[in-house]
Amino acid sequence: MCGIIGIVSKTEVLEKLIKGLKQLEYRGYDSSGVVTTNSNSFCRRRSSGKLVNLKKQLKEKPISGTIGIGHTRWATHGKPTEKNAHPHLTENVGLVHNGIIENYSELKESLNLKQVKFNSETDTEVITKLVEIELTENGLSPEDAVKVTLKKLKGSFALCFIFRGLENLLIATKRGSPLALGYGKNEMFVGSDASSLSLFTRKICYLEEGDFAIINREKVSILDCNYNEIARKIIQVSVDTGVLSKGSYKHFMQKEIFEQPAVISQVLGYYLNASDDSLTLQKYPSVKKTSRIILIGCGTAYYASLVGKYWIEKISGIPCSVELASEFRYREPIVNFNDLVVVVSQSGETADTLGALRHAKKFCKNICAIVNVEESSIAREANWVFPIKAGPEIGVASTKAFVCQLLVLMFLNMAFAEELNRLNENDKQKLFKGLLELPRIFTDILSKTKNLKKISKKLSAYKSVLFLGRDLLYPIALEGALKLKEISYIHSEGYASGELKHGPIALIDKDMPIIAINPKTDVFEKVNSNLEEVKARKGKLFLFTDNFGKSQSGNLTKAIFELPTCAALLEPIVYSLPMQLLAYFTALDKGTDVDQPRNLAKSVTVE
Ligand code: G6P
Repeated sequence: MCGIIGIVSKTEVLEKLIKGLKQLEYRGYDSSGVVTTNSNSFCRRRSSGKLVNLKKQLKEKPISGTIGIGHTRWATHGKPTEKNAHPHLTENVGLVHNGIIENYSELKESLNLKQVKFNSETDTEVITKLVEIELTENGLSPEDAVKVTLKKLKGSFALCFIFRGLENLLIATKRGSPLALGYGKNEMFVGSDASSLSLFTRKICYLEEGDFAIINREKVSILDCNYNEIARKIIQVSVDTGVLSKGSYKHFMQKEIFEQPAVISQVLGYYLNASDDSLTLQKYPSVKKTSRIILIGCGTAYYASLVGKYWIEKISGIPCSVELASEFRYREPIVNFNDLVVVVSQSGETADTLGALRHAKKFCKNICAIVNVEESSIAREANWVFPIKAGPEIGVASTKAFVCQLLVLMFLNMAFAEELNRLNENDKQKLFKGLLELPRIFTDILSKTKNLKKISKKLSAYKSVLFLGRDLLYPIALEGALKLKEISYIHSEGYASGELKHGPIALIDKDMPIIAINPKTDVFEKVNSNLEEVKARKGKLFLFTDNFGKSQSGNLTKAIFELPTCAALLEPIVYSLPMQLLAYFTALDKGTDVDQPRNLAKSVTVE
């Protein structure tokens, strides 16, 4: 899985290819490459590691050309080496690929029988070899050679080809993975998403399943899956790429954590009318006949969904289940016509979540998407879209998007509760008041990080950490553990504190740090008892609580981080902030790559 780009122009394309790839790094960053062609040959540069390595190489050994393709990779088949980096080439064919060719070993075996030699361990290379054979041995045109090859491929993919010596032809096609075309003046663009193209043009068209595009700089022909010419809608995109700078911050993650007071205010402004305590949400599916809500997501979005479930059942009283997108479509879930499905995804491109959405669509009519990227595949395929308005999130570990996902889940839930008459005026006003206080509370926490830095310093010396929370704060323990492991590489697990005695307590000794989240809630005493059990076994306890909790827990530990009091229902939002900071400061202590941690990608576009 990866990000791909292609440009055909009258002027040099290298700089644009690199700019486009920079936008696509969220889809993978373990190696990258570009290739151009002139009248007779290909000119290719590839590099393992981040895009910056490719840029260095290009500075020393520049390439030129008015047509080219580029790729940024997240390794699936084959190690992240230069040899496996795309573009892959044969004598006449250049290719970049996002996705997986599931039957590649079968295809490779049949090519091996013909003595075809491979230069990489990738699934992609078989495609170039097959197209090459169609061109040279069977004498087909580039279009026909690709068409014949496509018939042999199983899996999901987006492909962009160039051909040696053909300076005015790109071929792009998609099955499963997203692909967009950008229309410029005497130049045309192909990219995995709109943001990579919006640097050059706002006129974008999304290819649909099975589409096949023959692209010249002056003209594009799009053929549908039956190879009939078809017109796809060209839209003006609003992707704003101007804000992708760290400003005065050291990392994007730090910026994204610290801008949360402003981002929260923005989201509140978008969804709430503070003057009369009303939601501005006009269009949302009626839940009068809804038998169940199914929330679906991956990673951080899954944990946001878990909070959503607790909220929905507490406030709206609608039965709710939460599904890992990667499990959902394969475990034969029972989805009824009257269910309401809500998929949650920052990028809107996560292959598992998109697959789950498509699966759910077969059974029920109401599919909502809570997304950050409003032009994303998930947003385009859902029936109802609720943007989280977080602005671009670049750090791989999600921070502000998580908080905004929670806010939007809360707004939707409030709308459902109102429709079902389950939210009385008093509770509604309390919630509004609590929500409007969030920017101040976040600012307050962000101004007192000294103590958190001390806790992080201690944590960075450990190999393993347990996070505990209960009720609404259990998903925050899970999310805290995910953040820490993602960017500091310290093994961490989140547990419902009541579960401690059913297994993880065996791990506790003087070398096991425990991050406990326990402000004043209905289950405060219960969690406190669990923490006593930790203390009795000499576990190192770090407590995140409010003033009340601090006054009651003094004998448990001196390592306490006190947070401002907030509306009980909104504690998951507030307590997610110190979890983000904890992970961030610990990663700083460990000296890891905070924004682009090893082995991860911001958006995972393969299953
Ligand atoms: C990847 C990222 C996670 C993210 C998850 C879901 O695994 O590393 O940080 O939470 O994808 O991403 P989405 O864009 O669907 O919210």
